[in-house]
Amino acid sequence: MEVQWVGVEPPRLGPPHTAVRLILSMLLGIWSAQALEMSVGKIPFLEAVNGSTVMLPCTYSSCIGIKNLYFNWQFNDNGTMQKVCESVIATEGIEPKVSIYRDRVEFVGKNHHNNISIVLWNITFEDGGQYTCFGRNPKEKGKNHSAIFNLIVVDELRVVDNTLATIIASAVGGAIAAIMGFMLLKNFTLFVLSKLEEKNKECLVTSSGIDNTENGLSGSKADSKPTPKKK
Ligand SMILES: *[C@@H]1O[C@H](CO)[C@@H](O)[C@H](O)[C@H]1NC(C)=O
Ligand SMILES: *[C@@H]1O[C@H](CO)[C@@H](O)[C@H](O)[C@H]1NC(C)=O
Ligand SMILES: *[C@@H]1O[C@H](CO)[C@@H](O)[C@H](O)[C@H]1NC(C)=O
Ligand SMILES: *[C@@H]1O[C@H](CO)[C@@H](O)[C@H](O)[C@H]1NC(C)=O
Ligand SMILES: *[C@@H]1O[C@H](CO)[C@@H](O)[C@H](O)[C@H]1NC(C)=O
Repeated sequence: MEVQWVGVEPPRLGPPHTAVRLILSMLLGIWSAQALEMSVGKIPFLEAVNGSTVMLPCTYSSCIGIKNLYFNWQFNDNGTMQKVCESVIATEGIEPKVSIYRDRVEFVGKNHHNNISIVLWNITFEDGGQYTCFGRNPKEKGKNHSAIFNLIVVDELRVVDNTLATIIASAVGGAIAAIMGFMLLKNFTLFVLSKLEEKNKECLVTSSGIDNTENGLSGSKADSKPTPKKK
């Protein structure tokens, strides 16, 4: 008799998927301790014109679940790490109170789908540089994890004619956005595919391997699951 591969929920489900993942993670956490992972997405930099408003993306993930996850954002100001904001997340899905230490910063991730992104309003040239998204899950005995995002601030005034500069700037901006969006999608697909393999090994939970929070996109590839072995 054929043994069917069962117990895999449809990947498009949001909260139920998370719940299932959590439960399975807890149960199977005994055998595996998947480290916390911080991710700034597959494109860890952004070029933006001074005066614009940008988002610094970051999400976390953990097979074993989180409890009182400490996170912060740090800005590398010429070698010294300046805290941009910090907070403790009690559990997944709960919006934390975030302390903000820098001007024009807003916490927009709200911990929705493990999103701890921030927005920098009206950036100046001084805002350019390296931003570190840092996390520590007490479940892991205080191990540190981080991901780095680079913000490059550019001056739009490169062409002589101002009107033309604006048009070009927005056209280029749009093109870059489109390319980045495409790359993000493409990379996301590849990422999910590669991650599936990896996570399946690490977590020992087949159905929890589909971690579609990495880049914050909720769609996932139903056909990207590894083919189950039939007996
Ligand atoms: C960007 O910087 C240039 C040069 O410092 C300045 O002239 C321009 O007004 C700035 N743009 C914005 C939108 O702040
Ligand atoms: C950064 O550090 C270098 C070397 O210490 C120094 O020369 C430079 O002026 C500093 N830049 C800023 C913006 O503080
Ligand atoms: C950003 O700049 C706009 C326009 O100058 C201003 O209305 C807004 O209050 C600024 N936002 C922040 C957070 O500084
Ligand atoms: C983790 O980071 C903190 C600073 O936030 C530091 O004090 C601690 O030594 C680090 N721990 C490890 C194991 O690197
Ligand atoms: C995080 O939340 C912000 C604000 O809601 C949203 O714009 C962004 O797409 C989200 N990013 C990720 C990686 O989920």
